[in-house]
Amino acid sequence: DWTSEQFIDSTVAELKEQIGNDKVVLGLSGGVDSSVAAMLIHQAIGKNLYCIFVDNGLLRKDEFETVLDSYKHMGLNVKGVDAKEKFYSALAGLTDPEQKRKAIGRVFIEVFDDEAHQIEDVKWLAQGTIYPDVIESVSVKGPSATIKSHHNVGGLPDFMKLKIVEPLKALFKDEVRLVGKALQIDDIIIGRHPFPGPGLAIRILGDITPEKVHVLQQVDHIFISNLKKSGLYDEVWQAGAILTPVQSVGVMGDERTYENVVALRAVTSVDGMTADWSRLPYEFLADVSNEIINKVKGVNRVVYDISSKPPATIEWE
Ligand code: XMP
Repeated sequence: DWTSEQFIDSTVAELKEQIGNDKVVLGLSGGVDSSVAAMLIHQAIGKNLYCIFVDNGLLRKDEFETVLDSYKHMGLNVKGVDAKEKFYSALAGLTDPEQKRKAIGRVFIEVFDDEAHQIEDVKWLAQGTIYPDVIESVSVKGPSATIKSHHNVGGLPDFMKLKIVEPLKALFKDEVRLVGKALQIDDIIIGRHPFPGPGLAIRILGDITPEKVHVLQQVDHIFISNLKKSGLYDEVWQAGAILTPVQSVGVMGDERTYENVVALRAVTSVDGMTADWSRLPYEFLADVSNEIINKVKGVNRVVYDISSKPPATIEWE
């Protein structure tokens, strides 16, 4: 029945018809959905699609540069916007997870809106909304639904009077991946684990500082690159590290240390609604733990989260 080639052909034809010679703006996140939406629309209207990729300072190590490069290789008309300082100053002193999410959502909209206004006569806003987002945003849900309503579905500030185009609205995640493959999008984008919109801000418990982000980026990078090296990355649905505000005593050489505890989280799941902790091999965990403690200044203890969802959630905030 459904094939990605047919879907691409008919969708590109519809998009051409619908959009004509209008200009379209789209926010790329580095994730699968926005990337596939962008490539589809790009096939239909080429350079009339204006993509914006915002560096919120809460992405993984080197992610902004790497992903921006692959977007350019894919031929997209994309503008990278460094807004790190705006996000950090909006987050300064905030410790409540929901307040952090709200601040990030607000700044994102401000930055995106500024950029969109610079595109003369833009008529459409494209979004990578997929079918489960549509369902989630109408059901009563917790914090993730709140931000999703900002980022993914609807959520337009009133002063941006753009028409909305959502070419993936009827697709499930696995179908989006198939379409992405057929469009020859880079594997590092297609096979990517889900990553929350507020990024590392909800994996740093308590207030956010650029220094803490730097520590967590190093920890996360060691964990994720070891998962990739060991061939475990694709067996895990989502993985990441959490920087806790807990300090514990350790010993390094003949010095006593008093530094932070980080937690590693890796889960198996189908859709993120329920999840189980991944049974990663002990030897793997041992290697990752040693590497983190030896290389990352400010961290002297690593723990592994063995909670399933429910009753825990995937993220700690
Ligand atoms: P939880 O922690 O609720 O996470 O079990 C389920 C999935 O949703 C992601 N998540 C978010 N995604 N904005 C997002 O875009 C958010 O505020 C947010 N909170 C959680 C989480 O990473 C997991 O994939």
